[in-house]
Amino acid sequence: MRKPIIAGNWKMNKTPAQAAELVKELIPGVKDALCDVVVCVPATDFAAVKEAAQGSNIHLGAQNVHFAQSGAYTGELSPEMLKACGVEYVIIGHSERRQYFGETDRTVNLRVKAAVEAGLIPILCVGEMKEERERGYTDALVEYQTLIALNGLTDAQIQNLVIAYEPVWAIGTGLVATDEQANETIGVIRKAIGHKYGQAVAEAVRIQYGGSMNPGNVKGLMAQPEIDGGLIGGASLKAPDFTAVVMYHK
Ligand code: PGA
Repeated sequence: MRKPIIAGNWKMNKTPAQAAELVKELIPGVKDALCDVVVCVPATDFAAVKEAAQGSNIHLGAQNVHFAQSGAYTGELSPEMLKACGVEYVIIGHSERRQYFGETDRTVNLRVKAAVEAGLIPILCVGEMKEERERGYTDALVEYQTLIALNGLTDAQIQNLVIAYEPVWAIGTGLVATDEQANETIGVIRKAIGHKYGQAVAEAVRIQYGGSMNPGNVKGLMAQPEIDGGLIGGASLKAPDFTAVVMYHK
């Protein structure tokens, strides 16, 4: 059985002092979590979060990674740099990066490959925009995004990574996909992986839902058979909310 994974995506929020405070508040509440617990934080918070989370079950994640090992890429961070800071997970291809920072399926694929090769676990984000869903393109689009992003990886590498299905229209909007919509589209992604890489890989890979997930809707989403966790934006910034999401089984 797949172990659920719930990750906070803090986006561009929290100074190091605020980050340490939030992690310290989270620790007692999430210590008995049945899922893997990750916080994906700004790079300026890596050290503070690493220190505050020491000895706890809270794992450190980043929000992006470059594909080169080093070089003239002003403002970017390499996989090795993240590793050296104690980062274990990295969000790749978040819709905000696709929308605002020119991320493409091709650069997502390069980043995923570089991350995996360095021993980081990608949280690969895919998802459709509102008009794409309305026009009936969702399935084709998420299949395409997923298969391009995974191109060139081995079966073993794929079954170890995490995918986050995030309908763009549900991110930060309060509009959550219905439990059935989220389950169905995640099923489509899993099936596409199964066709290309085989059933065993498809059954092993963990696929999260993301988009306005919160303490009020987490139970319904997590009860769906295809949904293996969540990528949580807004509700990950406050300890009581993120704790309630992580402890959804309580
Ligand atoms: P949200 O963000 O929970 O605030 O909708 C999710 C995400 O962007 O990963």
